[in-house]
This record gives sequence, structure tokens and C-alpha cells, in this order.
Amino acid sequence: MSTSKKFHSSIFHPTLRKWQEPNVNIEPENLMYPLFLIEKDDVIEEIPSMPGVSRFGVNQLIKHLEPLIKKGLKTVLLFGVIETLPKDSNGSSADSTENPVIRALPLLRKNFPDLVIATDVCLCPYTNHGHCGIFDEEGHMDNDQSIQRLAQISLAYAQAGAHIIAPSDMMDNRIRAIKEILRNYRLESRVAVLSYAVKFASSFYGPFRDAARSAPAYGDRKCYQLPLGSKGIAARAAERDVEEGADMLMVKPGMAYLDIVRQTKDMFPNIPLFIYQVSGEYAMLWHGAKNGAFNLNAIVMEALTSMRRAGADVLITYYTPLVLDLIQKQ
Ligand code: PBG
Ligand code: ZN
Repeated sequence: MSTSKKFHSSIFHPTLRKWQEPNVNIEPENLMYPLFLIEKDDVIEEIPSMPGVSRFGVNQLIKHLEPLIKKGLKTVLLFGVIETLPKDSNGSSADSTENPVIRALPLLRKNFPDLVIATDVCLCPYTNHGHCGIFDEEGHMDNDQSIQRLAQISLAYAQAGAHIIAPSDMMDNRIRAIKEILRNYRLESRVAVLSYAVKFASSFYGPFRDAARSAPAYGDRKCYQLPLGSKGIAARAAERDVEEGADMLMVKPGMAYLDIVRQTKDMFPNIPLFIYQVSGEYAMLWHGAKNGAFNLNAIVMEALTSMRRAGADVLITYYTPLVLDLIQKQ
């Protein structure tokens, strides 16, 4: 059965409906805030590679979010970061009951009933090798096993309360596998899938791998993330994920890939398009401003406005708290 002609899963919440009504301003609906969640509920850890960004235990996260929600914050993207839970070949801590994301979801739903919660789904923070899939005995990525496992993890997050599943692994046909398991468990119309459809093998992810403790132990991600210079396979990847039923698409990173954002928006003008302004972009602007190259507020708004102009509907940015303040002052 095809999933691509269905849309209840794209419009079940007021914030998701807003994304179907594009304009070019930056309002709270256009911002998704990425957050790193740790095992220790009462702890905040600063992230040296991303000055101004922290990892939160769930109790601290709730405190951190309260004022932001008063300022209009609509949606967050959760990443789990583990320290004492085991890392193994199957990424079993990704959906264990002790996983910080699984534990936080019901609490966030209860504390913030209007907040739309997306969860990143990937294996790299949970595998002993730090790659985004599962390997067979010969040491090759096993795509079928990988997407089955990603679907299981997606189901666990959906059952724990995620509104949006956002797979960042770049395995082939994972959108179909995730849609299928959601359908089998009758969650299809209540959970959206935001595909990291067009994700390049970028050096801009450097600080994140430190933040999420997800750097590959060996090798790189060039056999599953997209080649930097390619427009063609970027188009094919977006097309494939739309056919498999993705509710929303993402291009990642942002600023160096705005031609791809425009290409993707022109191909699919009717699908909400997200940009991930990734960790390296965050750090670049922060360090540039810190060293006097430009004013931080001005440069952040310029970078984000150019993303809207290029065709992005939603901006995933670590600068969300800053931007919410700037919007309020306007
Ligand atoms: C893991 C993942 C990455 C990012 C989001 N999910 C890193 C990677 O693929 O190596 C990058 C986010 C950022 O740099 O801010 N699949
Ligand atoms: Zn990954």
C-alpha cells in the first residue's frame, strides 16, 4: 500500500498546519529548537565545541523550556546522549526504557501540552562503532537490518509521545519502513515523518559529534551521506523520500547549500521544507561575532532570512532562544 497520498499525519496539530501556509517572515512557527538530552535528570553540561549550548537532564530541560515557551517556542528536536548506558552493535540503548529521550517524552508532553516534539532517529549515538547503521559479519552496512532497527526505534519514540519522527541516518528506504511500522501500530495519522532527505557528508557537523558523542570510531559517512558537489543525487534523494511518504523534507547543512534548498523547494513546492543550520554553522557565526567580524544578532538574522528566501519553511537552529528574543523586541 502506498503512503504518499496521505496527509492526516501532516496536519494533525495547529503548528503542523502552519507549516502548510508559507510566508517569508521569521516567526516562532518557523523555528525548531534542537536539544541534547542526558541521563542525569538534574544536570546541565556545557558543550565546549558549541559555546552557549548545553546538554540537559530532563528536569533542567523543563526549566530551560518554560520561559522559551512563554516567548512562543512551538517545536523542539530531541537528541539523546548517553554516558553510562551501553553502546553495542545493535544500538540497543536507543529505545531502552532508560534512554533519556524515551523518559523525557511523557514528561514534556505533560508539562507542555501544546509543544510539538520531534525526535532525531539514528544509531550513531548508540552503536559501539559510531556509524548510523548496522554492520553484517563481513563488515558491510546491512541496509535491511538497519532500516528495521530504525523503524523499531521510531515506533518506541512515537509510543512514548513524539509527534514527529526525524530519521537522520540516510539509510535507503527508511521512510517507507518507518511509515509502515507506524501504520501497523495505528499511529500513522498522529505521527509525522520529517525526512533528513538531503543530508550532505559535511565537515560542518564537527562540533555536533562531540556534543552527541556520536563520532564514527573509524572511517567516515561518505558511503551513506551525499557527496558535497552533487545536485543530481540530492534531487533523487528528495524524490525518493517523497514517494515513500515523507510528510516534511530537510536540507542539511543550510548556508552552504542554499542552491539545493531552492532546487528542493522548486521540485516540491507543496511540502514543508526544513533547513538544519548545523553545529558548525552555529559555531562559525558565534566565533566570528566573538572575534569582532560582525554583530551576532545581525549575522544570525541575515543567515536565517537568506534560508527563508531560498525556500525553507522551518529553520532548525541552536540560535532559537536568541531569535525568539529578537522577534519579541521587534
Ligand atoms: C547524526 C546526526 C548528525 C547531525 C544530526 N544528526 C551528525 C552526523 O551525521 O554526523 C548533525 C547536526 C549538527 O551538526 O548540528 N546522524
Ligand atoms: Zn547518525
